[in-house]
Amino acid sequence: MAPVLTFREVTRTFAGAGGVPLPVLRGVSAELPAGRAVAITGRSGSGKSTLLHLAAGIDAPTSGEVLLLGRSLGALPDAERTRARRDHVGLVFQFFHLLPHLSVEDNVLVPALVAGDPPGGAAARARELLERVGLEGRAREAVQKLSGGEMQRVALCRALLRRPKLLLADEPTGNLDEANGQTVMDLLLGLAREEGSAVLYVTHSRELAALADATWTLHAGRLEQGG
Ligand SMILES: Nc1ncnc2c1ncn2[C@@H]1O[C@H](COP(=O)(O)OP(=O)(O)OP(=O)(O)O)[C@@H](O)[C@H]1O
Ligand SMILES: [Mg+2]
Repeated sequence: MAPVLTFREVTRTFAGAGGVPLPVLRGVSAELPAGRAVAITGRSGSGKSTLLHLAAGIDAPTSGEVLLLGRSLGALPDAERTRARRDHVGLVFQFFHLLPHLSVEDNVLVPALVAGDPPGGAAARARELLERVGLEGRAREAVQKLSGGEMQRVALCRALLRRPKLLLADEPTGNLDEANGQTVMDLLLGLAREEGSAVLYVTHSRELAALADATWTLHAGRLEQGG
């Protein structure tokens, strides 16, 4: 079985100040097998978010290849790359990116709406996920009434709605206090494990990184793999 995600000699160079090339990733090769959880660590500016954007096909490498479920994202036409992301990737962000005026349940349903899934099945799936994160009683409330930790639990349900093979999370606890951060991380990893989704998450916390099966550390444009 192909790994969920493969980085093959990936480089990413940005145009820095005054047009000076800024090489952020200088040759990254790594594989994320199905169902595994990997934490990405590294200093601010080391390229962690860049790596996640490449994994999601939101950004493209300067050279090298990113493969999602064995298919090179760069080789796909734009429409197919978008579909691959919708069908196989779930995203969780530091600042939740929820639609504040919509209800909890409708926020969770957004990916199904975008993808044109049958509404009945999606609604049942949304309720099931909300129950698993303890928010079944809040489904009809406006999401903006929720606390940060609750909002991130909603964002997690939204990310998992369409059963992605890959869950990407960029500092999912970065905007939460320690207790809420721990709760969200436990739910994120627990749900992903139950659902068989592989997870790639960025964290600055040693404790939260230790919950993963492995750690990838970015340093000077290279990726070091640790147990
Ligand atoms: N679109 C862009 N254009 C130019 N430079 C960029 C762009 N995106 C990122 N960079 C630069 O690439 C470097 C890596 O950025 P990235 O956001 O991946 O770091 P990070 O490890 O996620 O940092 P943090 O921990 O602060 O979130 C930074 O120097 C950043 O300024
Ligand atoms: Mg970042």
